This record gives sequence, structure tokens and C-alpha cells, in this order.
Amino acid sequence: MSLSLDARADLDFVLTWRRRWADTLYPALVAQTRAATAQAPPADRKAARPAVHAQPVFPWFAFGERGSQKQLWRAVSDAVADDEPIALPDRPIGSLELNPDLELPAWYTDWDIHVQPGGVWRADPSARVYELGAKLVMMGDNDDYAFHRRFVETAVAPVLPAAPGRLIDLGCGFGKSTWALKQAFAAAEVIGVDLAAPCLRLAHAKCEERGLAVRFVQADAAGTGLDAGTADLVTATMLIHELPQPQVKAFFAEAARLLKPGGRLAVLDFQFTGEPVRDVAMMDHGARNNEPFLPGMMASDTVGMVEATGMTGAAWVAFDERGAGRLDTLAWPKRPEWHFPWAVLEAEKPQ
Ligand SMILES: C[S@@+](CC[C@H](N)C(=O)[O-])C[C@H]1O[C@@H](n2cnc3c(N)ncnc32)[C@H](O)[C@@H]1O
Repeated sequence: MSLSLDARADLDFVLTWRRRWADTLYPALVAQTRAATAQAPPADRKAARPAVHAQPVFPWFAFGERGSQKQLWRAVSDAVADDEPIALPDRPIGSLELNPDLELPAWYTDWDIHVQPGGVWRADPSARVYELGAKLVMMGDNDDYAFHRRFVETAVAPVLPAAPGRLIDLGCGFGKSTWALKQAFAAAEVIGVDLAAPCLRLAHAKCEERGLAVRFVQADAAGTGLDAGTADLVTATMLIHELPQPQVKAFFAEAARLLKPGGRLAVLDFQFTGEPVRDVAMMDHGARNNEPFLPGMMASDTVGMVEATGMTGAAWVAFDERGAGRLDTLAWPKRPEWHFPWAVLEAEKPQ
């Protein structure tokens, strides 16, 4: 995408504003909360919440998160407003299976997810806006989607057979999680599933541009219609925090149905860190970023939900997106700035 100087300046401004929010306002909030609670440190995130909210910098921190997010979409929408519609190839090497009869659930369409006006599903520009916005949300740390490649290299490749057959990526968005799988396992059949037709069109176009033969299917991750017992791997990156509790359960049941015996589940999402201010900020992030189901997912017994499907070895481990990727325990390297508490939920379908 070629950007005008004005568009570039707007995007640079928002990116800088978000970085200052993360590396200056967040540490200030931590320092103020620590000083205010030094005599009686809060035991957990619930106890910490009133203290965090009472600090002088808190209104600026809260405004900075929501305000910069709104500015982000304004800048990104302006930047892609005149862009070309998504051009689909005449002779694709992969496929795109859209379902015009699919009724999008109200819990999905009722919220402008991530504060993106109109969400990611309304029309082709929604996907392009989401694509550019996603880069800024990651504060420039996911250029060329190194994050998704690291997930595949450290959390997926080590647990798969050398030549896996079918890999299914649920909630694939515009494909950055899916093409990392296809790049790593060129001979495998890779299927990306999403509710949003615009995202799937963009995902398909981008895979074709990259010479990656991927099958994209428009369906609900909680009931894909794909054949049971056929997948070596089911992944979902950044999906389950967007689902209401009954859908999270249904998603795990569908993953268990799709996997063949010995197949692996790898879900990249968020978990609490045990650092009170960070965990309060993450709970609040759901409200400030129009992700209403995020706190519920983080607080729920997702491991128990996976075990209830019959899968074994269910556990969350931390994911360090800047360095090692998947870690062996649910503990992150200490970092002073605000960052997402990425984690991987792993399990296996018994043989
Ligand atoms: C935050 S995006 C993540 C996209 C991609 N996996 C990534 O890592 O960038 C979440 C995606 O999940 C999709 N989604 C949400 N609920 C879904 C559901 N029930 N079934 C399928 N896709 C869903 C959304 O349309 C969106 O594209």
C-alpha cells in the first residue's frame, strides 16, 4: 500500500502516542500505585483495582488507551479510504468458500470490536482498515508478522509430526496466522476459517500473491462443517477472548471434533500475569477496547473446558512475542512497559 505524506504523518503520530502510553504512562501508573499501597500491598487484581483507579495518572492512562485507539482508526480509515477493492485472482492456487447464507451472530455484530468503526466484517475496506490497524496495535512490533511466525516455530512445529496432513486455523482474520502455517508446512493442507467475508477475501488474495495454496472457508469456529477427526492441528490466534463463554466452550468442542487422535490444539491468547497493575489494566482493556468477553475468558477455567472435551495435557504457558516465543511455564520475563500478556493453551486429543 502506498501512503500519502499526510497519511504517513498521521500514522506516525498515533504510533508514537501509543508507544508513549505504553512506555511512560503505564510505568507511571505502576509507580504511583506501588507508592500508594506500600504499607498494604494488594493481594490480587481485584484488591488492586480501586487503588489503580485512584492514582492521579490513571485518567490519562485510561484516556490514552481509548483515545489513541480511536485516533488509530481515524488515521487508518483515512489512509485506506481511496484504496482499490480487494482483487481476487482469476486462476487461484488455493480456494475461497464464502457462505452468503451464513447469519452472523448478534454477539459478533453488536460490538465494534477493537473500537474499529463497523467491525471487521461489514465490507471490503473493513478488512483493509483492520490489516493496517493491526500493525499499529502491535506498535510496529509485528512487521512482516514475525509474531505469528514465532508462534508457529516455537509453539506448533515442535509438537507436530515432520509431515503433517491437515492444519486448521480458526478465526484466521485476514490470514496472518494462516500463512505462517502454510509457509512452515508447505506440503500440508491448510484451512483458514472466519466469520468475516471481507477478511477471508483479503486473506485469499494475500495468500495467492505469496504463492501459498490455502483453503479459506466462511464459517463459525464453533461449528465449521469440516470433516471430523481429520486435523493434525487446530490453532486459533487472538480468537477466544472475542467469544462469549458458551461460544468458547463450543469452540473447544469443535476443535476436539476436528482433531484426529494424537492431533494438537494450540490457542494463542491472554492470561493473567499475577502483577496486580498489569492485570487490572488488562481487565479494563476489555472495556476500553470494546472487547466485552475478554475479562470473562481470562477469568474462566479454560483448562477445565478443554479437559471436558476429552483432550489431555491442557495447560497455558507464557509466550514472549519479542524473543523466545513459547516458554515452558506461565511466567513472563519482567518488562516495565505495558504489553499484552500473551500465552498459549496447549492440549492433545488422545490416541
Ligand atoms: C483478533 S482477530 C485474529 C485474526 C488472526 N487469527 C490473527 O492472529 O491475526 C479475530 C478474528 O476472529 C474472527 N472471529 C470471531 N468470532 C469468530 C467465530 N465465532 N468464528 C470464526 N471466526 C470468528 C473475527 O472475524 C476476526 O477475524
